[in-house]
Amino acid sequence: MAQTATSAFLTLLFLTSLSKASEDDMPSNCSKLKKNSWRDYLRGSKHEIQFLLFTRENPECGQIFNDQAEILNSTFNSTLGTKFIIHGFRVVSTTPSWINGTVKALLHAADVNVVVVDFNGGATYSSFVDKMNSTSLQVSRIISYLIALGSTQDSIHLIGLSLGAHLAGFVGYLHGGRLGQITGLDPAGPQFTGASIDARLDPTDAIFVEAIHTDIDNLGIRIPVGHIDYFINGGKDQPACPSNPLSFFRYMTCDHTHAVHIYMNAIKAVNSSCHMFGIPCSSYEEFINGNCLDCFDPFQQSCPRIGLEKHGGITVEALPQQVKLYLMTSPTAPFCAYHSLIDLHSDTDRTKNTEVEIILYSKASTDKVTITVPKKTYHFKRVITHQEPLCNVHTLQLRYRVKLFSRLSGNKEENINIAKICIQELPFNDSEKTRACFINIHLPLNTKVIHTVKTECR
Ligand SMILES: *[C@@H]1O[C@H](CO)[C@@H](O)[C@H](O)[C@H]1NC(C)=O
Ligand SMILES: *[C@@H]1O[C@H](CO)[C@@H](O)[C@H](O)[C@H]1NC(C)=O
Ligand SMILES: *[C@@H]1O[C@H](CO)[C@@H](O)[C@H](O)[C@H]1NC(C)=O
Ligand SMILES: *[C@@H]1O[C@H](CO)[C@@H](O)[C@H](O)[C@H]1NC(C)=O
Ligand SMILES: *[C@@H]1O[C@H](CO)[C@@H](O)[C@H](O)[C@H]1NC(C)=O
Ligand SMILES: *[C@@H]1O[C@H](CO)[C@@H](O)[C@H](O)[C@H]1NC(C)=O
Repeated sequence: MAQTATSAFLTLLFLTSLSKASEDDMPSNCSKLKKNSWRDYLRGSKHEIQFLLFTRENPECGQIFNDQAEILNSTFNSTLGTKFIIHGFRVVSTTPSWINGTVKALLHAADVNVVVVDFNGGATYSSFVDKMNSTSLQVSRIISYLIALGSTQDSIHLIGLSLGAHLAGFVGYLHGGRLGQITGLDPAGPQFTGASIDARLDPTDAIFVEAIHTDIDNLGIRIPVGHIDYFINGGKDQPACPSNPLSFFRYMTCDHTHAVHIYMNAIKAVNSSCHMFGIPCSSYEEFINGNCLDCFDPFQQSCPRIGLEKHGGITVEALPQQVKLYLMTSPTAPFCAYHSLIDLHSDTDRTKNTEVEIILYSKASTDKVTITVPKKTYHFKRVITHQEPLCNVHTLQLRYRVKLFSRLSGNKEENINIAKICIQELPFNDSEKTRACFINIHLPLNTKVIHTVKTECR
């Protein structure tokens, strides 16, 4: 455990590259996030904690929000909901660069009060962990005051990244789990994975707790911690992040902080037809292999989606706990992708694995995936992603490919037959309108075979 923590700390040290300080363009009466330099530490003049309020009346300009007088003299409106943004570990001399964008996205999407919790957790990961309880008391003090001013507990929503997600959990715990919502953005793993539920984020910390996992094999927590837990692309490696350790700084932290970008883009895309919804499943492999296709159990078809909808759009009354949800994303912003199942029946007795290239053409996009159908398999399923809804896809192109190397080493199957191939968009439900099937397809080696897709957009 100590070792993981040390390596996490070393990794986080490199966050510097990512948390460039913003020296700015704001009017001078606006308050900003503070950063501590090593010199502040040595002088003992380091900043401990401050709260900054942003509202639609004052979206660009932080208002100091530390005590009752300042709260009363601000544009805070207790009839609106309030969202707290809580950062994680930060490197000396930096401020978290994602906060301004998140504030903007939230205020654009909803008329709310946004409170940024700007605090100094010390220079190391473990000093940060030690300070989390005292910091959560300070956040709780502000919340109690907002409630005294007329805010309802239900209207309070805490959004925390990494260690900030567990800190949000502590704050929720101090309020008896009665605050409305906590969103954990890749909640930190080191020192928390094995912790008791009192010492980490868990579903009892708020009425609704959700988490977005993007780095469970490094800095994020592996286990589900909310009512619902989205594991983006399985929660490990993000297509938007470099897989090449040569781009070292981004490589170490990109997956972890990608949760912020997923959340921000989901909020911004509120009017888009592409929703980042998750499908409940026991594992990513099961999901990819087409064994989880709808949200019937346990959500009665209301697939949870990332964004600001109440309870993630879940309409069942008794919220289930620790439901693992899976979705894939595209490598570029806004990251949202449509998902479809490829369901293939082959009647060739294949003695080798078969690669089939599938291309979906729509007016606005072309998506290419290659599936590998294992030898001696007659029924194969795979979930793929595409950029346009399936109802906009007009052509499906298939090609049976055998690499030269494989041919030289004795692959003699010159063509294959597909008895039936269907493509259908997720989530499956009563409607089969977005399903297209083709039967008896003969695929000669390395030859493009084209079919017209006719599905209707509803
Ligand atoms: C937030 O700050 C960062 C770094 O200071 C800057 O690059 C970025 O453009 C800002 N984003 C917004 C939305 O203002
Ligand atoms: C800051 O100053 C600008 C220009 O002087 C003014 O428009 C703005 O309302 C002020 N903001 C606050 C929070 O006082
Ligand atoms: C109230 O807020 C305004 C704008 O932020 C500031 O200029 C003024 O000094 C504040 N007044 C008090 C009593 O704090
Ligand atoms: C607070 O928000 C409510 C709801 O939008 C609005 O009706 C009211 O005028 C606002 N109060 C102030 C003081 O701005
Ligand atoms: C913080 O508080 C929780 C819950 O009371 C406790 O389990 C945990 O040990 C505390 N952590 C520290 C570092 O004091
Ligand atoms: C089926 O799924 C679509 C897409 O999510 C949704 O719009 C529709 O309401 C669902 N229908 C039923 C009967 O659940």
